[in-house]
Amino acid sequence: MRKKTVRDVDVTGKRVLVRVDYNVPLDQYGRVTDDTRISASLPTLHYLLDHGASLVLMSHLGRPKGKVVEELRLTPVAAVLRDLIGREVRKLDQVVGPEVKRVCLGMEPGEIVLLENLRFDPGETSNAPEFAALLARLGQIYVDDAFGAAHREHASVVGVAKLLPAVAGFLMESEIVALKGLVENPKRPFVTVLGGSKIADKLKVISRFQELVDVILLGGGMTYTIMKSQGLEIGDSLCEENLLGEVAAMMSVRKEKRARICLPRDLVVASEFKPDAESKVVEASRVPAGWMGLDIGPLTIGEYIADIGEAATIFWNGPMGVFEWRRFQGGTMEIGKAVAQADAVTVAGGGDTVAAIEKYELEEGFTHISTGGGASMEFLEGISLPGIEVLTDIAT
Ligand code: 3PG
Repeated sequence: MRKKTVRDVDVTGKRVLVRVDYNVPLDQYGRVTDDTRISASLPTLHYLLDHGASLVLMSHLGRPKGKVVEELRLTPVAAVLRDLIGREVRKLDQVVGPEVKRVCLGMEPGEIVLLENLRFDPGETSNAPEFAALLARLGQIYVDDAFGAAHREHASVVGVAKLLPAVAGFLMESEIVALKGLVENPKRPFVTVLGGSKIADKLKVISRFQELVDVILLGGGMTYTIMKSQGLEIGDSLCEENLLGEVAAMMSVRKEKRARICLPRDLVVASEFKPDAESKVVEASRVPAGWMGLDIGPLTIGEYIADIGEAATIFWNGPMGVFEWRRFQGGTMEIGKAVAQADAVTVAGGGDTVAAIEKYELEEGFTHISTGGGASMEFLEGISLPGIEVLTDIAT
């Protein structure tokens, strides 16, 4: 079922309440260090402004747990948005209340207001009906462009959408189209590259991908738990001991599944967890005691690149090693380049993956880079996302 988008509603002269995901990284001085999510919302915002709407923008930032946390105000985000959109953005210091209502109800077409961090109010994460009603009163149409938060059953994602005509923005639409394309009838061979540090975050997606994709290339910190579950010696590498049983069970049933799962054959190991630690390449089954794997090795890189070169569809989530450190960036950099150069539909997702793509300037080689971390994983796991479910369907 297709969802209605901003193209399907008349926004002229309307106050449009737009849920964006401006949950962006900040440095120690409170400056925005990556504006990808803000830039990604611009097509929707420009479209609405060009069609005569005024905009009430709402976002969360971090997890302030229902209290005002000064460092998590959206003020620096508003400054970045102002620069990017080239218009005045009136940033309010409250989320709801009489002053917020007065400002929003008095807006003229073309004006933009950004509410304070939604999660300063406990009603946001508890999806409190009273809080959703207060937000809904600020607009006449609801647009959801916050794909990154679509897996959260929160007031600004679900509650408000039930109270107003609710449609998708362009970013939300493009995310749904790209991710649906992966799960419904992907071109084959479909190769997925999964990395990152936590196996707990990837277990469900690996299980689902065993049925869906043709090849699963594994790397990053999470592989050591898998290797240990297979009886391999991982030295001091990262390991989620409590998940060893679950991981072993998942790997043991894989013979009946569609996908070929590849684990690293060699690793770059380090004597300690430091950027300038002593390092060497070893066979993956022989990590010496006291050493830890921090990247995949050259043999593995070569094999993975060969599989990537054959693919017609590729999904990449998670770095292959500690790519922030020069000595341990080889796997992530080479695999990233190979994916970007592949003659295939290429989709990437997850904060660290996006950071790696930016670091090696590979953006142009991707068909779609998802702005959602948890949301894109849940989508690919086959879980229906409440923030998408609630948007209006187009009758077919
Ligand atoms: C994200 O960064 O993945 C989204 O903004 C959701 O944030 P959350 O995990 O704090 O709900």
